[in-house]
Amino acid sequence: MDLTKKKVICSGSIRKAALPYLEGKVDLKLWQQHGRIPAETWKEWLRDADAIYSAGNIRVNEELLAQAPKLRVIAQASVGYDNFDLAACRAHNVLVGNTPGVLVNAVADLAYGLLIDTARGIVRGHKHVEGGLWGARKALGLGTDLYGKTLGIVGLGDIGQAIARRAEVSGMQVIYHNRHRKLNDTALHARYVGFDELLATADFIAVAVTLNPSTKGLFNRDAFAKMKDGVRFVNISRGKVVDTDALYDALKSGKVAAAGLDVTDPEPLPGDHPLLALPNLTVTPHIASATAETRDAMAVVTAQNILAALAGEDMPSRVK
Ligand code: DGY
Repeated sequence: MDLTKKKVICSGSIRKAALPYLEGKVDLKLWQQHGRIPAETWKEWLRDADAIYSAGNIRVNEELLAQAPKLRVIAQASVGYDNFDLAACRAHNVLVGNTPGVLVNAVADLAYGLLIDTARGIVRGHKHVEGGLWGARKALGLGTDLYGKTLGIVGLGDIGQAIARRAEVSGMQVIYHNRHRKLNDTALHARYVGFDELLATADFIAVAVTLNPSTKGLFNRDAFAKMKDGVRFVNISRGKVVDTDALYDALKSGKVAAAGLDVTDPEPLPGDHPLLALPNLTVTPHIASATAETRDAMAVVTAQNILAALAGEDMPSRVK
């Protein structure tokens, strides 16, 4: 099908890997200049856009959709789509695409890296050395083993399962909580438990849920109070799943011995945020999927989602 007249817009640049799928095949408009695209230009582009390639930095709501009367699809290069008002997309007959699958291993690797960091204080050790304190390393105290410990995974989707497989290799027992019990949990050697049981039993907790009304603020004061003393906590899902003040207090009191966060609320986390003054916290700037191979694969799926939707074919990954 000839799609060359279809206008595909992106408010930034896209990975080179996706260009062969789009250049010459659709009428592609990318914002490649420094700084954010001016609001007027974006508005103008929206007016006759058939598709939006989203790098995750736009809010997809009624206001945006109302400005794009020809829009057929918005494909986002991420697995998460909490920046979308899906009901509004449905009302405007706009299809939504995302990129699960291709980022699972990269995200699980970072989650596992953070988990090990909460046990062993890798970043803390580095800072110690950087501060010229190698000789005073006793001040760092001792870490803890992963081996023999219980990891509680909240959200056993593809990413949660990939974290479970990594944990098994380290000799951890895995328990999980999810909306529904997973049929393959025996093969994964993961045991389904209620949320409160997970909180009370896990030595380490890894959060891999999607952000939705039922998970927003799930890790609040009450949840931290129910955890084991000295638990280690990792979040690679979305910052808003955690009450930041409650986590701060739990880290400060030692209830949570250490935490590793790839996502925060607010995001980006300002450099002078009180969380960053805590010695028992490592934060990475939402980079779980940020490897060259994974970002290329995400870009390709995003382009394929756009082409399929514009051609009226099944999208490789459609959010329903
Ligand atoms: C996504 O793609 O939604 C994740 O945030 C990647 O880390």
